[in-house]
Formats: sequence, C-alpha cells, structure tokens
Amino acid sequence: MKTPLIAPSLLSADFGNLERDIRMLNQSNCDWFHLDVMDGVFVPNISFGFPVMQAMARVAEKPLDVHLMIVQPEKYIAKVKELGARIMNVHQEATVHLHRLLVQIRKEGMLAGVTLNPSTPICMIENILEEADVVMLMSVNPGFAGQSFIEHTVEKVRQLREAIDRRNLKTLIEIDGGVCRDNARRLVDAGVDVLVAGSAVFKAANPAEEIDILKGA
Ligand code: DX5
Ligand code: ZN
Repeated sequence: MKTPLIAPSLLSADFGNLERDIRMLNQSNCDWFHLDVMDGVFVPNISFGFPVMQAMARVAEKPLDVHLMIVQPEKYIAKVKELGARIMNVHQEATVHLHRLLVQIRKEGMLAGVTLNPSTPICMIENILEEADVVMLMSVNPGFAGQSFIEHTVEKVRQLREAIDRRNLKTLIEIDGGVCRDNARRLVDAGVDVLVAGSAVFKAANPAEEIDILKGA
C-alpha cells in the first residue's frame, strides 16, 4: 500500500511558540512544512508573510511547501525562491497567465504547484498538467483551518489521478483541508500522494504520533 507524504500546516501551530512547534516537526516523520499565506483579498483572512516565513525557514529542516492564497502570485516568485522553498503553490483562480507562471517557477528551480478551489473543475488545468509538478486540490474553501472536509473532492482526486496516469506524468496530487485519520486512507486509495493536515496534527494530544497514524492510514 502506498505511503503518503505528510505536510503539516503551520497555520494551526502555536504562533507564540513557533520555534518549539517547528522543532517538534523536525523530529517527527512528517515530510514537508506547509505554509499558508493569505492576503485578505483572495481569501477572507490574513495569516503571515515573508518575515515570519523567513524566521520559520531558519529552524525548519524539511522542504517548505508554500501555499499562496493571494492575488497575483506571479509578483512573488523571487521572494519565495529567496526563502528557499521547495514547492511554490499558486491558485489557478488567482492568476491570468498560469502557464507562464508555472514555467517561471520551474525556471527558478522550485517545484511548480497549482491549486484548485473546491468549485473549480479538473478540466481547468488539463492544458497545463505537463507544466505542474504538484496539483493541490482544496477540500475546504481556503481561508481557515479546522473546517469540515468537502466530500466531492474524493471524486475529483479520482478524475485527476486518471488524467495524470493517462498521460504518464509524475505529477503529485496533494490535498488540503479537513484531512484527518478518518478520511486519510480513502484519499490515498483514490490517488492522493501528499496529505496536508493542520488541526488534525496540532490539536492531537501527540502530534508526532498523529503524523504516523496519517502516514499509515
Ligand atoms: C486553508 C489552508 C489549509 C489549512 C488546513 O485555507 O490552506 O492548509 O490550514 O487546515 P485543516 O487541516 O485544519 O483543515
Ligand atoms: Zn494550505
């Protein structure tokens, strides 16, 4: 059975003890650090920006997966690169020239990630699948941690898996929002490679153990 990569979302960490929480994740079996950037325009919330992420990056010992919930993400390629991010994830809905943006992200040596809101169908990225290293499906409406998983995303995962396999691509499927021990197995079976988990990890009595449970789901 396939073992998923686990990307805990730092949005649910204790911001007063970020260093402690990041060191805990360094010691755990998680794979990526998922950093949620919100601008108050693309989504109805504001989280953190580059100065905070630079502080996180100094402590983090695993690849940074930067999820930009902002308009015009193309303006920030250099800043995300400077941060040392491994994955730059941009929303299909937030940019006009998606193909150009993905090509530029790859040119900077990062993995190009494209994210779809729950209401955006898979066909919107059919023509740029070759340019994406990661496709992330939102299973909640972006903006907040701790929301309930939107069920129809499982069917979208299956459709996307089929499109990727049909074209013999290596594109990773990532899922973000409401992921927990009760739906992790189903998601991996449907074809997910990377599970993002915020509240499931940080609200657990033992976050490192919860990461192992998600991995083995
Ligand atoms: C939502 C963010 C998610 C969120 C996940 O806008 O993109 O990454 O932090 O949190 P949970 O796992 O609690 O839904
Ligand atoms: Zn996210």
